[in-house]
Amino acid sequence: MKFTVTEKKLDAVQADCEIVIVVDGNLEHKWVKDRDDLETLQFKGKLEDVAFLPHCHRLYVGVDTLERDEIRLAVAAALNALKKTQYKKVKIGSYVKDCPVTNTKAIVEGAKLGTYTFERYKSEKSPLNIEEIIISLEEYAEKTLNYDPAVRAVFEAEIIAEVTNHAKEIVNTPPDDMTPAMLAEYAAEMAKDLEDVTCFVGDENFLEEQQMGAFLAVSRASTHAPRLIHLTYKPQNAQKRFVFVGKGLTYDSGGLSLKPSDYMVSMKADKSGAAAAISILEGAARLKLPFEVHAIVGACENMIGGNAYKPDDVLTAKNGTTIEVRNTDAEGRLVLADCLCYATEQQPDYLIDLATLTGACVVALGEYTTGIMGHSSALKHAMMAAANKSGELTGSLPFNRYLKKLLKSNVADICNISSSRYGGAITAALFLDNFVDEPYKEKWLHLDIAGPAYVEKTWGYNQYGASGAGVRMCLYWLKDQASTKNAHHKKEQ
Ligand code: BES
Ligand code: ZN
Ligand code: ZN
Repeated sequence: MKFTVTEKKLDAVQADCEIVIVVDGNLEHKWVKDRDDLETLQFKGKLEDVAFLPHCHRLYVGVDTLERDEIRLAVAAALNALKKTQYKKVKIGSYVKDCPVTNTKAIVEGAKLGTYTFERYKSEKSPLNIEEIIISLEEYAEKTLNYDPAVRAVFEAEIIAEVTNHAKEIVNTPPDDMTPAMLAEYAAEMAKDLEDVTCFVGDENFLEEQQMGAFLAVSRASTHAPRLIHLTYKPQNAQKRFVFVGKGLTYDSGGLSLKPSDYMVSMKADKSGAAAAISILEGAARLKLPFEVHAIVGACENMIGGNAYKPDDVLTAKNGTTIEVRNTDAEGRLVLADCLCYATEQQPDYLIDLATLTGACVVALGEYTTGIMGHSSALKHAMMAAANKSGELTGSLPFNRYLKKLLKSNVADICNISSSRYGGAITAALFLDNFVDEPYKEKWLHLDIAGPAYVEKTWGYNQYGASGAGVRMCLYWLKDQASTKNAHHKKEQ
């Protein structure tokens, strides 16, 4: 799907079909030409209301306000309503408040995210016929003819949406078609196509060398060997170093603390943190952000077998911390423990981990919201603000000294589960805290994406299955870091 911005008036643009956004039921705008039909259809023009008038090739879609996520939702709803038509060229008018960037981005993101489909395993595919979307900036062009920022906005939004869709693709792929080795292969192939990007893949021997006893224990019972994937994007004159760590459980059966059947379904999505980290790096490289960015992924399977790690085992992580295993289903934190130690060795300015870590986070915040945890309020707030712009939902979950005590073990330094059934998302993060060295504590953020990473129903512009959770918020956040250097660019969102 190609996007074009034009200063031409919407009426003057040649297209097969026109999408008109109606704001809060207001039918007075000049783009609304079919008031009688809309009244007959009792079209209310509220968020995501759609009225398609095939005889005049116009589709009306409502928003309550021009807030950017509503634009994304509306554009996604509009294009899905046109899915079965033969239209190739569609035009849409962009309402412009002060600058043409925000709306243009929202239109492009809504279109690309909203029309993603995962059909690899379907015999019958339903491809989208729409090839081009033309965005008229007539309202902005009336003020000035410089619409270069809008062209740039299209470019950036296309990248952000595409890499989000790449994360969805990784997550949706079934476990036997995306083993740790295959995920490493994907990362290595991706690196080949990108400038300034390199990929290192470590196997079991490397994990042994690195003394990653926790990661190795989780991996042991699988016939698919583990991989540590380390992608680096290093442009010239990089200003800061960002390290993203992703939980890459290509399957989580629970191990010997086996999951009940109902809970095991969808655990192919336990590699969502890895998919996000890899896709964030792809986005940073394609956007040519002026930062060094690393993606470190612990990829393995949590399975059962005669050589499986067990409750009662004591593991030694890379930093020497001993861990009493009391539940083999709390495996993500064990893999991340070693990966976080490795990540701090890169001396990051910011360290962000992404993981489908706990069911407790889903209980706390609901399935659409990412849990944000960390020691620095400023960092948490910055990420939450970026998430808000990106359209992702977040909630902050607070640490406290009492929850930390619940990880005490009688036989080792710490336990891999809390002694209480409450506050599980936070105690998991506090477990990880043991593997983030003192100088990095304030630079570290933990994103629990267990809820939004994979939802078994359509929600907004997200389809059934993977949503690419974490990718958009982290890329918006990274872009914010670039623009705080040049305050006058701050307006660019
Ligand atoms: N991968 C799961 C967490 C999860 C649950 C992700 C639901 C997505 C949806 C994780 O490895 C896990 O099983 N965690 C346990 C921890 C418990 C044993 C302390 C959980 O949340 O039940
Ligand atoms: Zn688990
Ligand atoms: Zn897991």
